[in-house]
Amino acid sequence: MTVKPLTATASGPLTGDVRVPGDKSISHRALMLSAIAVGESRVEGLLEGEDVLCTAAAMRALGAEIERDDNGVWHIWGRGVGGLQEPANVLDMGNSGTAARLLLGLLATHPLTATMTGDESLRGRPMGRVTRPLGEMGAAFTGRSDLSGKGRDLLPLTIQGSDSPIPITYRLPVASAQVKSAVLLAGLNTPGETTVIEPAHTRDHSELMLRHFGARIKVEETSEGRATTLTGQPELTGRYITVPADPSSAAFPSVAALLSPGSEITLRAVGMNPHRIGLFITLREMGANIEFTNEREEGGEPVADLIVRAGPLQGIEVPAERAPSMIDEYPVLAMAAACAEGTTVMRGLAELRVKECDRLAATARGLEACGVKVEEGEDSLIVHGVGAAAGYRPEGGGTVATHFDHRIAMSFLVLGLVSKAPVTVDDATAIDTSFPDFQRLMTGLGAHVFARNAPVPSGA
Ligand code: S3P
Repeated sequence: MTVKPLTATASGPLTGDVRVPGDKSISHRALMLSAIAVGESRVEGLLEGEDVLCTAAAMRALGAEIERDDNGVWHIWGRGVGGLQEPANVLDMGNSGTAARLLLGLLATHPLTATMTGDESLRGRPMGRVTRPLGEMGAAFTGRSDLSGKGRDLLPLTIQGSDSPIPITYRLPVASAQVKSAVLLAGLNTPGETTVIEPAHTRDHSELMLRHFGARIKVEETSEGRATTLTGQPELTGRYITVPADPSSAAFPSVAALLSPGSEITLRAVGMNPHRIGLFITLREMGANIEFTNEREEGGEPVADLIVRAGPLQGIEVPAERAPSMIDEYPVLAMAAACAEGTTVMRGLAELRVKECDRLAATARGLEACGVKVEEGEDSLIVHGVGAAAGYRPEGGGTVATHFDHRIAMSFLVLGLVSKAPVTVDDATAIDTSFPDFQRLMTGLGAHVFARNAPVPSGA
């Protein structure tokens, strides 16, 4: 396997007006729901990153017809609820936990057998969190066990979907939109009502899009948490979907601009789903100048244009209950915290340990390699900002291990833009899973990000 180290060095102000790629969560769901709707769906703004392309390939293997036209619009002709066909080969979900878990949900209530695998990172991620409730609904699974012999819920994993699915009420043991979505998607081809109760609110893209395709979804606040109920066996019909720009990708140029003195950038049509914008709320509490303008709705999701201007940040204590709305953004928040005045305390981060890599450890080790003081707890991270005395600039100079994690790679490249010495990430290939254009877009804004053997940009 070829690795691609990338280096970021101190840059001048970032300026420009850009649109980051489409939302990854919404893109996966758009392909999956279109594949089980009747008739044609058209999807504009789909993220064409590796994770989503894996989902497209899987949905094709399950019988959907999928084409991309010359204008970048994706056309999907679906097979109707319950109409997916048995795949002729193993489904490779690449690096994507969302693709794997949501698809296991869809397949759980189709009477077919399928085997799913993924890359080394995905093969290490827990699938028991979805196979348990899906097993209650009637599906059977045989997975690989971990090295200790425990489990049998790792990929490669074979699912035998149920031919007589049972509706369930499931209380989520962890705040996870993937688990919630897997159960709801399984509920589509199940008679009666399937309910998921979540103690903490997680992103609701599945619910919004299921409604958009014609499903009946009821949401109630109960003493146990938010209960979402889907009425099974609806007729879903092909729809038009516009995918907003991904707030989780917008996070990287946003933090880079906040930390690079003199910067002002505009980010167009960023998804503003309230369950996704915890980072922007937190950064504003730290003193960031982020303006939400032109707020509107696109394809059933709120979006806005963001104007981000540089300025000093103050360390804060981030409320733990905010974690589900910014779960993917803690690594890049930690970069902002490293440059802030004072200490930033982040708690309730246990889920970071089971993402594309152990993001809590990877963030802590990378910051240490760049001369930033951190305290890593079981589910917490405390970052001591370098503050005004150091000109808000960490030492840098480290080579950071990314563990094939796109968000770790992009976060540390952002740090390199504002560090005293360059920061190198050992392998940036994973960035293609979610933000294939990252280097070009950042360079266009004025950032110095380059391959180590490429010529160093002038002024770097
Ligand atoms: C996602 C949910 C989150 C998030 C992931 C995308 C989704 O995972 O980290 O990147 O699209 O539902 P969890 O559900 O495991 O928290």
